[in-house]
Amino acid sequence: MKELIAYGFCSWLLCVAISKSFGQNPPFKAVNLGGWLVVEGWMKPSLFDDIPNKDLLDGTQVQLKSTSLNMYLSAENGGGSALAANRAIASGWETFRLWRINESTFNFRVENRDFIGVGEGKRAFAHATEPGVDQTFVIVRNNDNPLTLRIRCSNGLYLQALCGGSVMGDYGGSEDDWSDENPSVFQMTIIGNLQGEYQLTNGYGPHQAPRVIKNHWDTYIVADDFRFMSENGLTAVRIPVGWWIMFDPNPPKPFVGGSLQALDNAFTWAEYGNRPSLGGIQLMNEPFAPAVTFDDLSNYYRAGYDAVRKYSSSAYVILSSRLAAGDDREFLPLAYALSHSVVIDVHYYNMFSGYFSGLSPKDNIDFIYNERAKALQAVTPADGPLSLVGEWTGEWEVKNATKEEYQRFAQAQIEVYGKATFGWAYWSYKCDKDHWSLKWMIDNNVIKLQ
Ligand SMILES: *[C@@H]1O[C@H](CO)[C@@H](O)[C@H](O)[C@H]1NC(C)=O
Ligand SMILES: *[C@@H]1O[C@H](CO)[C@@H](O)[C@H](O)[C@H]1NC(C)=O
Repeated sequence: MKELIAYGFCSWLLCVAISKSFGQNPPFKAVNLGGWLVVEGWMKPSLFDDIPNKDLLDGTQVQLKSTSLNMYLSAENGGGSALAANRAIASGWETFRLWRINESTFNFRVENRDFIGVGEGKRAFAHATEPGVDQTFVIVRNNDNPLTLRIRCSNGLYLQALCGGSVMGDYGGSEDDWSDENPSVFQMTIIGNLQGEYQLTNGYGPHQAPRVIKNHWDTYIVADDFRFMSENGLTAVRIPVGWWIMFDPNPPKPFVGGSLQALDNAFTWAEYGNRPSLGGIQLMNEPFAPAVTFDDLSNYYRAGYDAVRKYSSSAYVILSSRLAAGDDREFLPLAYALSHSVVIDVHYYNMFSGYFSGLSPKDNIDFIYNERAKALQAVTPADGPLSLVGEWTGEWEVKNATKEEYQRFAQAQIEVYGKATFGWAYWSYKCDKDHWSLKWMIDNNVIKLQ
């Protein structure tokens, strides 16, 4: 089992396995165990609570205004040139992506992917392709106002914005002076952040992360949850796993080893009776278009299919079309060509596109019975691959909907997605946002599967 899974995952994105539980055959009524072996911050924000400087996780995008000049730091031409403090309005050139080394130490990446740095001449530039010592800075925040900060260079001095807008790494004056007139003081605006597994493990650092993440694995999904699922009519789980699981127990830093053991537990809990519990392997989840081309993905799917078949003649191989390619049917011909047990996966959310904003509950429900039913039929040929609605949810863009409206929306989806020949999987089992949690929906009688 381990080999099978590890081998199927020669991908660099998210991969997914479906565990066939309780001895059933397709079509499955499944739930995604999202946020478990691949952390998503919005599903359980409290996981990040104890990270120092938790608003400055890896990948955070910031803009920095010199308070003395009232001008933003800017990588001239988007990078490859000087760093200046001469822009009244912040946009792409004035946005820096943080690479977090630890809670206080960072690299700053600019629009063209170069890094800012201060070398011998103490002038600040944004033209290093790799971050070295000169590109490594310490952010020193004002305790009374953490969005006010200084940036210490590797030479021990601070960045300062001089009249005319040049930026030098040579401020050695008072560190207690946080007045607006001080040329080394900057005001930070955080304009974007990420909260994934990388951010979590990198944020806690190598000493804390293993404890935090193992505690999450052990408590978020337990054997009792499988009892709950079984008692409430679910027949399978879909488990997102990270690409780093293939290196378990020694994944690349900052990831924490042990997720393969947690996955093994899920397989054990899912076995009610003596049947093998692996239902299928999804080679890649929501591949991006146009970054991933159709041809590359086709070749990858062919190789992945052959790899899985070396280990199992019966496990289903699940193919996902490219997110935003706009054609759920793009891999149907390939699915026919691969000899057997192939599944086409589609994800249906009544959100994430302007189309759904402002739709009434009835509009949304009609959309399920009409458009979704048609779309699903189009990937459910009578004589070919099976279909899977691998992600859907009872949440929508309707504000303040009544419980009855939520019930009808969920019921419509269960009815329509029930025609998928491989089955469906709700997103997700547990989530801080109630309607995204199938457990909450069942506990609160919004969804009934039996
Ligand atoms: C952060 O990393 C820098 C550079 O490796 C190191 O000098 C510093 O001691 C580290 N700080 C903490 C708090 O770990
Ligand atoms: C939803 O309910 C909240 C709280 O009762 C209210 O403030 C808000 O205006 C409502 N929104 C809509 C779109 O009805």
